[in-house]
Amino acid sequence: MKLAPSLLAADFGRLLDQALAIADLSDYLHWDVMDGHFVPNLTFGPVVVNALRERVSTPFDIHLMITDPHRYAPHFRIRSGDLISFHLEAVSDPVPVVETIHKMGARAGLALRPKTPLSAVERFLAQIDFLLIMSVEPGFAGQSFLAETLEKIRQARELIRRKSLSVEIEVDGGVNAQNIREIARAGADIIVAASAIFGQRDPRAALQELCALAIS
Ligand code: DX5
Ligand code: ZN
Repeated sequence: MKLAPSLLAADFGRLLDQALAIADLSDYLHWDVMDGHFVPNLTFGPVVVNALRERVSTPFDIHLMITDPHRYAPHFRIRSGDLISFHLEAVSDPVPVVETIHKMGARAGLALRPKTPLSAVERFLAQIDFLLIMSVEPGFAGQSFLAETLEKIRQARELIRRKSLSVEIEVDGGVNAQNIREIARAGADIIVAASAIFGQRDPRAALQELCALAIS
């Protein structure tokens, strides 16, 4: 089980300090890239993420919530082993985007909105490295975890097992100290949390507590 703190709930005026404050405790740093079009919110793009990439050694997990991932993915300067995901709902054919991400040296993930069924992604599972299951509508930090996601995680786990694939499952949205254990048990390999870490008085302590709960 790996934890990926999302900077979406961090103080953007101190983005580097906030990233560095938890970087050594994190498996990945999760970057929510939004274009104000695929989702009704705007955050940061390659210019900001690349500037931080040079200053932080923790692997990056770039979550593209944008209409044209094929155009913008290559603008991110990644390190080998970084993750880049984009939404299945944003593209007519995800395969060329996955190929582009792989050529960049990153691991490729497909993200699903809560209402998008697993059947929509099934035929692409063999080509991807991870499946990002959204447990809130993408766009904003601080929303409540959608309970029906637990069953979706279990089904995804089973589907991946049945196909003998090694696709990792990432879960994103509404994770907190009350539900992280159940999410991990349902089959999540990578868990994202923004508010439950950066919305807390002591982000390091909050992250350590989440980690302990997840593996309990
Ligand atoms: C939502 C983003 C999530 C978000 C999670 O669109 O994809 O990564 O930061 O925020 P919390 O953990 O506060 O629900
Ligand atoms: Zn995200």
